[in-house]
Amino acid sequence: MASLDFNRTMLAFFGALVFYGVIVEFTSLVFMPWRTERPGYALPGSAPAAAVAAAPAAAKEPPLPELLAKADAGKGAADAKICATCHSFEKGGPAKIGPNLWGVVGRPVASAPGFAYSDAVKSLGGDWTYDKLNGWIGNPKGMAAGTKMAFAGEKEPQKRADILAYLQSLSDSPVPFPK
Ligand code: HEC
Repeated sequence: MASLDFNRTMLAFFGALVFYGVIVEFTSLVFMPWRTERPGYALPGSAPAAAVAAAPAAAKEPPLPELLAKADAGKGAADAKICATCHSFEKGGPAKIGPNLWGVVGRPVASAPGFAYSDAVKSLGGDWTYDKLNGWIGNPKGMAAGTKMAFAGEKEPQKRADILAYLQSLSDSPVPFPK
């Protein structure tokens, strides 16, 4: 009889434990704030957090011709100091870690003599337009994943335009800005 009581007690005890476990699991299924990155259901008119964060940034950026119209080549030259750690800018300058950038605007992509470009950049094709250079300077890896250019990108649109104005000046016949 004593062992039967013991068994009953244990059954009740483990039964309670299992019941407790089920309750905890069920509760955490319903309320798991730490596991959800976004609310479990979309409210009408609500967009994913990332889209909300990205949209104003994209919308804020004025069109490139507008930025170029007020671009300052002098400021660009100062901002391009960081590029100079890897690039030479003078006519006939040597390839350093990156290719020489004299006359890069309008030049075919991956065409500087004496530089071994990555396949990622070689496969871009076409010529370097202001638009392409703007994308490139903003995010090299975004344009050519696998590029050798270890530069995170200049996120400030006006600074990129200033750098483009500086690159424009590195030419015997500068390419006019797009209208
Ligand atoms: C850490 C070194 C480094 C820095 C900093 C750097 N670059 Fe480069 N850049 C490279 C390398 C390496 C390549 C060749 C990329 C490849 O082949 O994948 C390159 C390629 C380029 C090209 C393509 C040229 C061509 O002939 O097709 C342009 C344009 C360019 N860089 C502009 C810039 C500008 C403007 C800056 C500054 C805002 C800059 N780079 C900063 C290393 C660098």
